[in-house]
Amino acid sequence: MNVDVILGLQWGDEGKGKIVDVLAPGYDIIARFQGGPNAGHTLEFDHHKVILHTIPSGIFHQDKINVIGNGVVIDPVIFAKELAVVESFNAQPRKNLYISKRAHLILPTHRLLDAAQEKEKGAAKIGSTLKGISPSYTDKYSRNGLRVGDTLRNDFWSLYDTLRQSHLRLIQMFNCSVDDFQIDGMSFNEFEQQWKKDIALLSSLPLIDSEVFLNAQMKSGKRILAEGAQGTLLDIDFGSYPFVTSSHTVCGGVCTGLGIAPRHIGNVFGIFKAYCTRVGSGPFPTELSDDTGEKLRKNGFEFGSTTGRPRRCGWLDLAALRYAIELNGVSHLIMTKADVLDTFETIQMCSSYNIAGKEYSYPPYEICDQQISPSLIPVNGWNTAITNCTQKQELPSRLLDYVAAIEKACETNIHMVSTGPDRKQIVSM
Ligand code: GDP
Ligand code: IMO
Ligand code: MG
Repeated sequence: MNVDVILGLQWGDEGKGKIVDVLAPGYDIIARFQGGPNAGHTLEFDHHKVILHTIPSGIFHQDKINVIGNGVVIDPVIFAKELAVVESFNAQPRKNLYISKRAHLILPTHRLLDAAQEKEKGAAKIGSTLKGISPSYTDKYSRNGLRVGDTLRNDFWSLYDTLRQSHLRLIQMFNCSVDDFQIDGMSFNEFEQQWKKDIALLSSLPLIDSEVFLNAQMKSGKRILAEGAQGTLLDIDFGSYPFVTSSHTVCGGVCTGLGIAPRHIGNVFGIFKAYCTRVGSGPFPTELSDDTGEKLRKNGFEFGSTTGRPRRCGWLDLAALRYAIELNGVSHLIMTKADVLDTFETIQMCSSYNIAGKEYSYPPYEICDQQISPSLIPVNGWNTAITNCTQKQELPSRLLDYVAAIEKACETNIHMVSTGPDRKQIVSM
């Protein structure tokens, strides 16, 4: 059996959580491979709405095992809150959620460092989610991090104190103190006390060598779905650096973030919105800073699932989409939030960009430094509500034309169209 993958093709928030939840019945195991609580994956079912940050989106399917892989970074406080929410919906995460011992921990001082680094950058800030993502991955790669498995060691608190002290020295170098920042509405000391309590909860869950578990399950014929966080255009290498996250959001991240060999990657489901959004700073070629952008934000309820920040909105960027499809080897496209375009007379798609007098059919290295003008192609809107459509035949012909135009430009088939936030609002194509 191969491992199938679901990942985002834009700047995150494409609706990955919903699609994982929709496809989960076809799998035995759902595994997150990168990112951390910077993610906010929304699931809607039976009139409930849940936002997951660290726990995989298969958790509400009782018979599925969910795995938090080695490539993920975990904040025990956020994790504990999430566990309580999930349990309030009658899910049983203490039974069917396994955590890699190799996943790294986000310390309270990582949260402070994230805030201090953003403050230092001033107007050039990344617009991070302030969840400590960049400092924790920095410690991972500089070989100073603490891992989930370390919580089982007798000397864990001494290791913790050593790392904490080195972070506090860094924070001083930024001319900041622990009192300068609140963490999720708490003082540093309050948050740290909570963190210490929640470490006990985290380490009471099944902590495993997830790469060994997943490979054994794969060999025994179990079907595994890898769940990505963020999106391809936020990848540490292929995104608009430095306005990116600190992990590999592309398909290659599945291999390193779960310990799956490249030859075992199966279908790659690339999720994209029928338009584009971005939270935080960085280039956005098709951004609309006018009433049309505002209408997209309002109709799509485009406010961050993790931070509540308004998302920047713009037209579908085919140049970036083709780039993302190529980098990930996408076999199936899934288009979400098509219903958000239901009331637009005309819709635009971007085919290429002009940057400093040069035409590009992909987002080039230069994208961060220069003025970008997108070449837009207008298409007719369908002006029909599609939220109740469940069959392809029910979809308006102009939406089918939009789908065909995207498939042609991307040389990849659209496998499903999502017509609303609920689990049931999905059309197979
Ligand atoms: P993720 O991070 O990729 O999982 O996406 P988010 O959950 O952050 O953001 C997607 C938002 O769009 C959530 O509020 C979803 O409930 C919602 N959503 C997902 N699919 C659709 C859809 O087809 N139509 C509409 N209107 N909303 C959707
Ligand atoms: P999901 O999984 C959208 C963005 C932040 C910021 C940049 C770096 O829900 O799609 P970080 O906190 O990672 O250091 O922030 O990345 N970002 C996301 N944007 N969806 C996400 O996750 C994101 N995770 C991080 O807004 O611009
Ligand atoms: Mg999200």
